[in-house]
Amino acid sequence: MTTIENLYLSGNAAPVPDEITAENLMVTGTIPAELEGRWLRNGPNPIGEVDPATHHWFTGNGMVHGVRLRGGRAEWYRNRWVRGDREAEALGEPAPPGPRRSEFGSAGPNTSVGGFAGKTWAMVEAGGVPMTLTYELDTIAYDDFGGTLPNGFTAHPKFDPATRELHAVCYTWPDLVDHVQYVVVGPEGRVTKVVDVPVPDMPMIHDMSLTPSYAVVYDLPVTVDIELAMQERFPFRWNPDHPARVGLLPRTSDTADDIIWCDAPMRYVYHPVNAYETDDGQVVLDVCAYDAMFRDDLNGPFGDATPTLDRWTVDPVARLTKTERVDDRFHEFPRHDPRVATRRHRFGYTAGGPVDGSDLHGATYKTDYDTGTVTERRHGPGRGGAEPVFVPRQGSTAEDDGWLLVLVHDANADRSDLVIVDAIDFTGAEVARIELPRRVPHGFHGAWVPD
Ligand SMILES: [Fe+2]
Repeated sequence: MTTIENLYLSGNAAPVPDEITAENLMVTGTIPAELEGRWLRNGPNPIGEVDPATHHWFTGNGMVHGVRLRGGRAEWYRNRWVRGDREAEALGEPAPPGPRRSEFGSAGPNTSVGGFAGKTWAMVEAGGVPMTLTYELDTIAYDDFGGTLPNGFTAHPKFDPATRELHAVCYTWPDLVDHVQYVVVGPEGRVTKVVDVPVPDMPMIHDMSLTPSYAVVYDLPVTVDIELAMQERFPFRWNPDHPARVGLLPRTSDTADDIIWCDAPMRYVYHPVNAYETDDGQVVLDVCAYDAMFRDDLNGPFGDATPTLDRWTVDPVARLTKTERVDDRFHEFPRHDPRVATRRHRFGYTAGGPVDGSDLHGATYKTDYDTGTVTERRHGPGRGGAEPVFVPRQGSTAEDDGWLLVLVHDANADRSDLVIVDAIDFTGAEVARIELPRRVPHGFHGAWVPD
């Protein structure tokens, strides 16, 4: 019998076997006293045996990791599976309360986690309803925003600091095959607007962008593949026959009649860094883009192409997208100062690709879009940094005046640290290193949720 290697089950992508709680974590350096709250991160952590020949990274059972900071101390670390129907059954526990949507959405949301409307939410795309968690990360219930969400949600809602709303582009497999939905959630946590947007072929739309005028729909060439679905595999695949385009939906529209579809490059984007409008009405989308996705590697995102840092400038009059390469290296999991959301940003922060034996992430990058400079921060031999979460310093106004919270995997010690970096002194000494009691597997997205 041959063993089939699956990149997404090996190295630091391998799951951890259990849930633990640790208190009073070891800290080197000084945690800024104003950081009072929780750093949270969601990602796949399969329960039990999975088939390495067909296991897809995106379908692993969700597990949230958290570190609570207060008064310059790291009070606790916790990791908890998000208990959807699948996880509750596997763990021999009762199913969670709350409403479901599509069958695909019966798993515990595994993609992102954050705070909104006074609650902690685990989120996923493709038909999943968000799950509320306690402060200590235990599952409460599926929550469709109090019965106001018509179908599935997304892992990447965009918070508009001007209106305090969440904006999302959502799709629901297999219930909605001919349209996606633009959904707005008001500050009190109830859906205030839904616009059906007709889109052919059922594309995988992972994220969206938001500007003062537009919700941006990424209709790119990764679409549902019925053959894969019939095999009960992850059902999305590269589709060279699906034309790439970007849709600019006016935020004031109640229907999709006014959407402006613009040709886009035949590439795939999971994540934009940020987006804004220029004085002459163009829409700038800074993105991490792949030449192909799920074309040869059907088990995850990194086998086909390296995600590069690119600028897409969309012209709503010519209905064209101009593309420029910002940096050729591996850039993913982009973040920015939340204060510049929807407005022109100067800085972006990204996780890099493999260096020095780290098997997925390596350096952390800070990109200065004004100067075109990309600065690399290494975390030491065998150490790689995941998604860098930016937290503004209280009372500061400069865009990079704040901290980056970076989950660093140490392949030598087979352990992880939460590292705090001064974003202005980007390559300087660590502000603090919080030693976690275990390895945190490679995963997806997190957030800083202040108390
Ligand atoms: Fe994502």
